[in-house]
Amino acid sequence: MQGTAADATARRTLVVGNWKMHGDLQANRSLLQALVAAPRSAGCEIGVCVPFPYLAQARELLAGSAIALGAQDCSMHQQGAYTGEVSARMLREFDCRYVLVGHSERRALHGEADAMVAAKAERALDCGITPIVCVGETGAQREAGETDAVIGMQLDAVLNLLGSHASRMVLAYEPVWAIGSGRSASAAQAQQVHALIRSRAVHHGVDPRELTILYGGSVNPGNAGELFGQDAIDGGLVGGASLKAADFLAIVAAAPSRSPTA
Ligand code: 13P
Repeated sequence: MQGTAADATARRTLVVGNWKMHGDLQANRSLLQALVAAPRSAGCEIGVCVPFPYLAQARELLAGSAIALGAQDCSMHQQGAYTGEVSARMLREFDCRYVLVGHSERRALHGEADAMVAAKAERALDCGITPIVCVGETGAQREAGETDAVIGMQLDAVLNLLGSHASRMVLAYEPVWAIGSGRSASAAQAQQVHALIRSRAVHHGVDPRELTILYGGSVNPGNAGELFGQDAIDGGLVGGASLKAADFLAIVAAAPSRSPTA
C-alpha cells in the first residue's frame, strides 16, 4: 500500500450514480448537462460512475462542477499483459475520484472473489482514488439467515488487506435481491446491516467518523427519503434511477445534510 491520499476520509453524505452498461454520447451529454445545471445544496456530494469509454466525455462535461467522476471497476493489477483490463492509474489520469469495486454483478458474472475485490480496492487507494467497495447478500442467503456471515466475510477480506487505510474507502451495502428488482430493502433492514458493517469496521480499527456507508438497491425518489433518514445510512448508490436526471436529482435532494459524526 502506497501512501497516496485519497480525496476525502470524513464520514459524509454521498449519492453516486452507477450507470452500469447504459448510455451513449448524446444521452450522456443531456444527462450530465442537466445534473451540472441543477441547483442543489452543498451538503451532499454527488458522483457518477460511467462506462470506461465515456470517461473522457464525462470529465469534459463535469469540469468545473462539484460532481465527481467515477468508474465501475479497475484491475487488481498495476499494469501488464491483462487484455481488456483497465488500471486504477489509467482512471486517475481521467480524474476519477471514485471507482466501484466488488459490485455484485461483477462478483456473480465475472467470478470476482473477496480477495480480488480487496486487491482492487488497494490498487485504487494506491492511485489516490476512493474505492466504493460493494457488499451484499443474495436472497437465498438472507432466507437462510446467512446475511451477517456473508457480509462479514466480504468485509473482512478488504479490512484485513487495507489495514489502517480502510477508513479511506467508502462502503456500499447492496442486497443482491434488491438490485434492479424495484423492491428495495426496508429502511429497518438496511439500517440493521449498515450498523453491522459499521461495528465490524470499527472492530478492525476504522474510525467511525471517517466511514461513509451507502445503500444501493432499487433506490428511487419515492423511497430515498426514508432510507436516507436512517442514521447509519450516509447516502446511496443508485442504478436505474441515476439515468434520469429528474429522478437522480430528486434522490440527491432527499439525502440528509449531516455534519460528520460517529
Ligand atoms: P438499481 O438502483 O437499478 O437497483 O441498481 C443498484 C445498483 O446496483 C447500484 O450499484
